[in-house]
Amino acid sequence: MKLWGGRFSKETDSLANDFQSSIHFDQRLYQQDIQGSIAHAEMLAQCGIISQEDRAAIVQGLKNIEKDIEAGKVAFCAENEDIHMNIEALLTARTGGAGKRLHTARSRNDQVAVDFRMYVREEIGTVISQLLDMEAVLCRRAREHQETVMPGYTHLQRAQPVSFAQHLLAYAAMFRRDVTRLEDCRKRLNECPLGSGALAGTTYPIDRWQTAKALGFNRPCGNSMDGASDRDYALELMSGLSILMMHLSRFSEEVILWCSWEFKFVELDEAYSTGSSIMPQKKNPDMAELVRGKTGRVYGGLISLLTVMKSLPLAYNKDMQEDKEPVFDALDTVTMCLPVFTGMIGTMAVLPENMRRAAGRGFINATDCADYLTKKGMPFRDAYMAVGRLVSSCAAQGKTLEDLTLEELRAVSPLFEEDVFEALKLENCMALRASYGGPAVSETTRQIEEIEAFLEARSK
Ligand code: ARG
Repeated sequence: MKLWGGRFSKETDSLANDFQSSIHFDQRLYQQDIQGSIAHAEMLAQCGIISQEDRAAIVQGLKNIEKDIEAGKVAFCAENEDIHMNIEALLTARTGGAGKRLHTARSRNDQVAVDFRMYVREEIGTVISQLLDMEAVLCRRAREHQETVMPGYTHLQRAQPVSFAQHLLAYAAMFRRDVTRLEDCRKRLNECPLGSGALAGTTYPIDRWQTAKALGFNRPCGNSMDGASDRDYALELMSGLSILMMHLSRFSEEVILWCSWEFKFVELDEAYSTGSSIMPQKKNPDMAELVRGKTGRVYGGLISLLTVMKSLPLAYNKDMQEDKEPVFDALDTVTMCLPVFTGMIGTMAVLPENMRRAAGRGFINATDCADYLTKKGMPFRDAYMAVGRLVSSCAAQGKTLEDLTLEELRAVSPLFEEDVFEALKLENCMALRASYGGPAVSETTRQIEEIEAFLEARSK
């Protein structure tokens, strides 16, 4: 009979029971469920609601169950619906009377709320530490390529010179925001729902501060109806993970482009490439493509959960059981993608000559040429027009700006002097972009040092 079978005279239809049971996915909350139950039992005894003997039997029983689950000795069953009732049923079978007192002053809604929150809190830690590993690799690679000139793009058209370090550090800035977004989410979620009861608290003299502290929360949630039915933390997590996957997907897209023969800016290590079953020459960036592809699953999870929660009346509704699978899947996906991606970036060969060659075509020093004239006194708009004319005549002749003779340049403006050729060198164009946040070595060094300090602050 069901734990809740008292008012029923009939068994649940077996298909309906399979339909509503969640044990096949929520069993991964077993540790949190046991921790939550131990904290609850300790508190009940402390408050004089159960005896010390019952508390001892419950705590010991739960610890044994945890060991048995870990040893693979426990078979969960759909008849007991979810992880909460499976563990309670096991405990009762093992301890009898004591086990039956555990559910005093508590509801399954309490359990699922506290278990899921603790699970999310812990997984956030895993994602953050993987992101910090990524940051460390990006810093290392950026240090190697502070003077590697590459074309920076807008509209995927060559635009202005940057360094490969600057390009990598742009991603480092994104991942750093991802870390702080997840840290914010973890701070906000750290209120304990246990003790909310089914929705309306309880008549027993429980101590919610005790259970909150025991489970590592800052305080109990302040409203029992909200405590039992809030899933904002899961939504914040999913939003954070979606944004993180968007960053990974943009980065993947660039790695895929860079690996193509059209770019050939990098070559992936063989450990992170795959071959083709028919084309013997192929070396494919499958890891990057998969990361890009898996982004869709994570976005999908966010939309699923937002949709589950919209229009739900207070407080708990069974719809909310649908909160877990998308979150588990998103976490599994992100925690698989991150270390693979980090390994791929850490090991790829960078090809500076190819980047430099690409930077040489496409007039990416045209802005610098206009800036040269402006610094000699010409208003920027006039300089812009003059250089536009130079670019158009160079393009017609298949030349670069630096291929022009001083006479040809002076035909457009007498302000051009011998020093223009230095000003047009891409290495100099990049080195002079030393404005705060720019690609000059002084600025990439500052960025790297800031990230290193960010990592250092989190290494304890
Ligand atoms: N398995 C349920 C869930 O994941 C636990 C809470 C069930 N509560 C209830 N009143 N049916 O949401």
